[in-house]
Amino acid sequence: MTLARAHRLTAAMLGLFLVLHLGNHLALFAGIEAHRSLQSLLRPLYRPAPVEAALLALFALQIALGLTLARRRGLGRGWALAQVASGLYLAFFLLQHVPAVLLARAATPPVDTDARFAASVLSGWQGLYFAPYYALALTALATHLAAAAHFRRRTLRWLPWAGFGLGLLVVTGLTGAFG
Ligand code: HEM
Ligand code: HEM
Repeated sequence: MTLARAHRLTAAMLGLFLVLHLGNHLALFAGIEAHRSLQSLLRPLYRPAPVEAALLALFALQIALGLTLARRRGLGRGWALAQVASGLYLAFFLLQHVPAVLLARAATPPVDTDARFAASVLSGWQGLYFAPYYALALTALATHLAAAAHFRRRTLRWLPWAGFGLGLLVVTGLTGAFG
């Protein structure tokens, strides 16, 4: 199997988690209780130790495959550049995001990594870093997928903007609920 094919296969497996994860954040618009109830429904799906270990290993593999592909292909131009740049941002984001969640859960006393935890970094000065940090993660994800579509002769120029809009919605939802 080629590296690009393996990267695509892993992406398909991670896609389900990503849809549920982002849907969970958007549920904030139906109220904090809706977010909490959905999170309690979803956690038993991705939190059991073997599932979580597989999920995190798949993300690590996705990053490693992506970086190898990017190193081979170079920066490129146009959509190829957008693909590599968005992939690099996803790697940067995930290497901060996942340890932040795991370390908080391992702290004494353990921190519940719920929406309040995600929102806690959006207040005050640190919000100047973390608001774009979250919004750009969804922009990067959408741009990465738009680039994949482009190379299948389907250009979705609106998709990166939709990702940015979704990112702003999540940030607004979190600050609105806990700000
Ligand atoms: C959440 C993590 C990621 C997801 C869900 C993801 C998803 C995808 C998808 C669906 C494709 C299209 C594959 C195809 O056209 O067949 C792709 C391609 C690509 N990704 Fe990622 N990716 C991720 C992380 C990364 C990272 C960290 C990099 C590093 C820069 C990266 C670099 C690339 C490159 C270079 C390609 C083009 C492969 C090729 O066809 O030559 N990706 N990615
Ligand atoms: C932009 C808005 C995002 C916010 C506010 C956010 C927030 C959170 C929160 C609160 C958790 C803890 C979940 C729990 O305790 O059940 C979490 C976990 C996680 N997030 Fe995100 N996230 C965002 C985007 C993303 C993206 C774009 C990705 C992947 C590309 C991602 C990947 C993960 C992973 C892998 C975990 C660990 C799951 C676990 O093992 O419990 N997140 N996130």
